[in-house]
Amino acid sequence: MTETRGTQGRESQSRWQGIESEHRALERVVERVEALLGRLAKGRAQPGEEVKAGGLVEELRGRLFEHLEAEETNRILEQAATVAPRFAEWVDRLLGEHDDLRAHTRALVAGTGSGDWTALHARFVEFRRVLRAHERAENEVVQRAYLEDIGGPG
Ligand SMILES: [Fe+2]
Repeated sequence: MTETRGTQGRESQSRWQGIESEHRALERVVERVEALLGRLAKGRAQPGEEVKAGGLVEELRGRLFEHLEAEETNRILEQAATVAPRFAEWVDRLLGEHDDLRAHTRALVAGTGSGDWTALHARFVEFRRVLRAHERAENEVVQRAYLEDIGGPG
């Protein structure tokens, strides 16, 4: 629709800034969890940190679930697909990854009860890789759809 050209992109762009600041807040928790699990895995943790790990991973789970729900509720990724229909499959795939991320995070929370910090740290490093790749892709699809909407190169 020619008359709305540009409008959806600008709206998406400003909503996306909120999502991006959530990505950065999540990343800070991810770094704290990574550091703590790393210390536990190497046997260099302070007394009490084993107990703290459970709470911190649960905090990450809670924040991530809220974040994913916000993205799903404000339909920002679907909007990118509306602006640039050739991204529709990409967006579907990214939204499908949300449930994988939820399952992965739940497994990490469960893992804090096992006491096998080496295994949990390794699983966390893998989770961090998957989460970062997911968020980079979300960022890319939204930014590219925005550029397309304002008439930039598609
Ligand atoms: Fe996200």
